[in-house]
Amino acid sequence: MAAFLLVGSSMKIGIVCNLKSGVIKSTHSDDFEEEFDSPETMHAIGAVLASKNHQISYFAESPNLPAELIKDRPDFVFNFAEGRGTSRAREARVPALLEILGIPYSGSDPFTLCIGLDKDVAKKVVSDAGVKVPKGAIFTSENFDIDSVPIDFQFPVVVKPAWEGSSKGIRDSAVAKSRQQLRALLIEALKGYEQPVIVEEYLPGVEMTVGLIGNGKELKVVGAMEIVPKIKDEFFIYSLEVKRNYLTRVDYCVPPKISGEVIDSLFNSALKAFKALGCKDFARIDFRLNTDDQPVFIEANPLPGLNPVTSDFGLIAKGMGLTYEKLILSIFEAATKRLGL
Ligand SMILES: Nc1ncnc2c1ncn2[C@@H]1O[C@H](COP(=O)(O)OP(=O)(O)OP(=O)(O)O)[C@@H](O)[C@H]1O
Ligand SMILES: [Mg+2]
Repeated sequence: MAAFLLVGSSMKIGIVCNLKSGVIKSTHSDDFEEEFDSPETMHAIGAVLASKNHQISYFAESPNLPAELIKDRPDFVFNFAEGRGTSRAREARVPALLEILGIPYSGSDPFTLCIGLDKDVAKKVVSDAGVKVPKGAIFTSENFDIDSVPIDFQFPVVVKPAWEGSSKGIRDSAVAKSRQQLRALLIEALKGYEQPVIVEEYLPGVEMTVGLIGNGKELKVVGAMEIVPKIKDEFFIYSLEVKRNYLTRVDYCVPPKISGEVIDSLFNSALKAFKALGCKDFARIDFRLNTDDQPVFIEANPLPGLNPVTSDFGLIAKGMGLTYEKLILSIFEAATKRLGL
């Protein structure tokens, strides 16, 4: 039915997301809800779509979602649900449900969302497409003896949960400079996040994140943002603490201060990664430069944060002269065009 909607006609749009409850069980880490969104973001997206005469309803990713979508069926879903829990399929649940119900939606499909969340698998796919990725090793709770997993790279290393976002489990202390520090960080991460842990060579260069919107021939880089620590730190990372205290810890630079040649290579790598992962409509992809100024892929966010003020994608758009309204409408239009709505 949705396929017969006329371009520009009013649609019933469902917005599906996970809002922070603000209540975290004592058995959970304090960053348990870090990926979840605020009502401010949900309503900001809703307001942009409503301004184009669409009817908006809001849904939470919850066990009630199937029944609610059947009862109040939208023509289209703007999805940014991160999914509850620790499953590496959590971001794929809403799109999978929408596919069962035959409701068209924005953003990547369940397969891409699963790959994107599993940073180790994402690196393999992106590396196959010719983009540089950091050397790394993966540890599980069954196999966390650091002497039994070959590490063919040098310290310092970054220690991070394999299936998280918003820097969950990546504190300022996540860089190990010795085997002893690595052992302690591994034990802590394996215990705290119920999933494998990645140990990766520390990339020392400039950090940049790239925003992309579109599909096929119309896929475009919106821009890139350099994340510059306010206080020089030998092993700076864009950690949980930095993201929570971004006003005092970092400056954001859009466009980045790096040379045009490096930017070309960064954008080229971002486009390759987007296509290799099969992203749809939009994504934000994180990179660091290595010592030879080559962009190295860190991870991809097929469901990047869209807060109008604080999100990296929002800041990229703003720095490139794109209003928040235009950002959301560009994502929406990429999706509706792809779907032939
Ligand atoms: N191999 C690495 N070398 C240097 N820094 C790294 C490396 N891996 C991660 N980091 C640092 O840790 C930060 C968070 O890592 P990563 O992007 O993997 O986490 P995330 O939780 O998925 O982030 P997001 O908020 O983008 O979802 C990076 O932005 C970067 O500063
Ligand atoms: Mg990241």
